[in-house]
Amino acid sequence: MPLLEVSHLSLSLQTPRGRALAVRDLNFTLERGSTLGLIGESGCGKSLTALALMGLLPGHAQVQGSIRFEGQELTGLAEPALCKLRGNRLAMIFQEPMTALNPVHSIGRQVAEPLRWHQKLGAREARERAVQMLERVGIARAGQRFDDYPHQFSGGQRQRITIAMALACGPDLLIADEPTTALDVSVQQQILNLLQELVAEHSMALLLISHDLGVIGQSAEHLLVMYGGSVVESGMSQALFAYQAHPYTRGLFAAQPRLALPLAPQGRRGHLPTIAGSVPELVDLPAGCRFAGRCAFTEPSCHSLRPEPLTLEWAPQSAPASLGPWIQPHVLHCLRPEAVQSMEVRP
Ligand SMILES: Nc1ncnc2c1ncn2[C@@H]1O[C@H](COP(=O)(O)OP(=O)(O)OP(=O)(O)O)[C@@H](O)[C@H]1O
Ligand SMILES: [Mg+2]
Repeated sequence: MPLLEVSHLSLSLQTPRGRALAVRDLNFTLERGSTLGLIGESGCGKSLTALALMGLLPGHAQVQGSIRFEGQELTGLAEPALCKLRGNRLAMIFQEPMTALNPVHSIGRQVAEPLRWHQKLGAREARERAVQMLERVGIARAGQRFDDYPHQFSGGQRQRITIAMALACGPDLLIADEPTTALDVSVQQQILNLLQELVAEHSMALLLISHDLGVIGQSAEHLLVMYGGSVVESGMSQALFAYQAHPYTRGLFAAQPRLALPLAPQGRRGHLPTIAGSVPELVDLPAGCRFAGRCAFTEPSCHSLRPEPLTLEWAPQSAPASLGPWIQPHVLHCLRPEAVQSMEVRP
């Protein structure tokens, strides 16, 4: 049984222009000891998906479908039962560190609290474990800074404190929503390494949300690409990076900054390609393929027909052993796969 199994998950929100389907028919599984990356432009529904898994959606949200954690259905689960899981077996690193930290409690208390509450540790033992975790995420002199308050730390330090909070109880599933955006490159690497150690050593499952394809490519062996609340392509990262079967995936990869941009003749750097247009408002998303309004391959039917999932063939037996036993099929949601595939992926 997979640790996490999400099927036909949809959620709608109240917006100023009426109810809108913010996430549509999401399906994926996540096994212990593996990392699933979730990528997509700002506003595509990554954080909402994460909050749905944690049972932390705003009150006006309506959820349909199923979220099973070790076989237990989480949608509709009563709050006391969810509280037992949250922060303990199921933890999240929030995108906005300040919303996760309580400004009126010391940081030490906040990291130690889940240990006392869920694992019933005594004050001294919880403090020792909290200090160890704070040190592991790179908070210098964590023992001396234990009683300091969030405002006495920098943005990057606060992000690391929220990571320590999420990891305190050794969760089975960690959802990390842009966990390293406020960190400089060396600290970012330290945190990514720590997360990967926990995935490998404790068989933790990690859902890693990041707009940074470098971070995803380094950490996640499985990938979901989201656009406008729908998954457009999913599969093993290696296959996805190689084939980029969906036009939106291609656009995302092409828009990723590279270190060596070609120098224009005048000595100025070349422009990065962008995806034409912008993400429409939730209520304006097309009924068919949600990317139809921005896609170079669109034909009239794309606006009205919903693309069915299409499993692509690639040679899973050629996957390196490091990918482990779980091979995810490469699934594409596109009405014009042949047209897209007839164009070569830009190197
Ligand atoms: N509480 C809310 N009420 C109404 N609309 C919301 C709410 N939260 C998010 N939305 C809308 O839902 C959509 C998805 O938002 P979400 O925060 O999941 O995006 P995201 O993919 O995490 O983006 P980012 O990369 O910027 O973090 C957006 O259009 C957003 O405006
Ligand atoms: Mg977000």
